[in-house]
Amino acid sequence: MSRAIVLAAGKGTRMKSAQPKVLHDLCGRPMLWYVLEALRATGIDEILVVCNAELEPLLAPFGVRCVVQTPQRGTGHAVQVALAALEPRDETVVVAYGDMPLVDATIFEDVQATVDADAGTALGLVTARMPLPSSFGRVVRNEATVKKIVEFRDATTAERAIEEMNAGIYAFDERALRAVIGQLTDKNAQGELYLTDTVSLLVAASYRVVPVLAVDYRLVLGVNDRAELATACATMNERLCREHMRNGVTIVDPATTYLEPEVIIGADSIVRPNTSIGGASVLGERTRIGPNARLYNARLGDDVIVTESVVLDSAIGARSRVGPFAHLRGGNELGSDVHIGDFVEVKNSRLANGVKANHHAYLGDATIGENTNIGAGTITCNYDGVNKNATTIGRDVFIGSNSSLVAPVTIGDGASTGAGTVVIRDVAAGDRVVGNPARSIGAKKAAT
Ligand code: UD1
Ligand code: CA
Repeated sequence: MSRAIVLAAGKGTRMKSAQPKVLHDLCGRPMLWYVLEALRATGIDEILVVCNAELEPLLAPFGVRCVVQTPQRGTGHAVQVALAALEPRDETVVVAYGDMPLVDATIFEDVQATVDADAGTALGLVTARMPLPSSFGRVVRNEATVKKIVEFRDATTAERAIEEMNAGIYAFDERALRAVIGQLTDKNAQGELYLTDTVSLLVAASYRVVPVLAVDYRLVLGVNDRAELATACATMNERLCREHMRNGVTIVDPATTYLEPEVIIGADSIVRPNTSIGGASVLGERTRIGPNARLYNARLGDDVIVTESVVLDSAIGARSRVGPFAHLRGGNELGSDVHIGDFVEVKNSRLANGVKANHHAYLGDATIGENTNIGAGTITCNYDGVNKNATTIGRDVFIGSNSSLVAPVTIGDGASTGAGTVVIRDVAAGDRVVGNPARSIGAKKAAT
């Protein structure tokens, strides 16, 4: 098992933000989350984040140790602070920057695989060929090994012409790193302790430093400002869409489909344009989502259809249809074969199999039995100005158009309300009520 140090103490000034850079959102997760996930995926069991005082209290949700670096005297200083906080071990330690969310586990694996202290390789570092101009540190090679890294601001014109960059991902033999880390100086253009100077120090101590060329330079670009954040978001989103398409999901337009990392979509589902699916959403097979849909923490059974609608924190059973223009606001459990039509809002409600509310309705804090039909314009008046009250409607009930159900109220199985009824008292099973306030006109006579 190996350890990793993630550097995130820098100010991130170019974001022009009150929020620490590594916590900025990228496809529904903080940037730092991706770095930690990728490291953990390679079997790294302990991660130490070097942070500043503002970031420290915000790191609790990430389940990592952190150490505060003040003042921030450069990346080399950050690693000195980290090593001082870590019990020395005789193994590989990965060092990465917290603002590189697109780096995947493969890159971390490849770089770790190069370190072999017994064979004299004390450091593997990721490099990338990228178009100039670039302000990345330049990799000065000695054929197959690295001789030194020169920071852009310290580089000569000839060095600035080098197209191989230091990506900022390192796997060190910890013992060798500890042996040289104290020798860093700040005699450079930025007056900082550069982590990159460990390269020439290790080479001087007769170690080998091996470059690992990244296949795609865009994955190591990092995020320094909001424009780069948008570019990174697009790349990540493209990656997420591609994974789902490989798994048998049709995404009509990946450029306008916005996914988050832990979303699950069943095979043969179709996602139409301008749709976002996020949180812990789990969609069954053959679902049809969009266009213009927003799903967050949505659990959908097989063959569910959601068009032009919003579904938040809700479960929807198989073959149900939602939309166009419906809003499932949260806390809903819908059975199978439920129909929610246009301009229907549902909140904190349980709708059994086969319930239909096809037009213009508000169902809040309601429990509705099987095959009940909710007419257009029905309102559960769940709020009396102080409390939220429940409405319970039985099975096979017919709620007439424009009914107001003043909660708390219960309507029994098989009952019905006429158009425009205002129900202020419970309605018995099988009874028919009309008017304002509702009065009984007696149960429907059985057909003779
Ligand atoms: C660094 C590399 C450069 C490389 C580039 C890749 C050094 C000296 N240079 O430059 O060779 O091409 O990354 O993106 O390492 N940080 C701290 N404490 C500090 C300073 C920085 O934790 O005192 C953190 C920052 O929060 C950031 C990371 O280290 O996450 C990199 O720092 P940054 O200033 O962005 O380095 P670059 O100039 O980009
Ligand atoms: Ca940077």
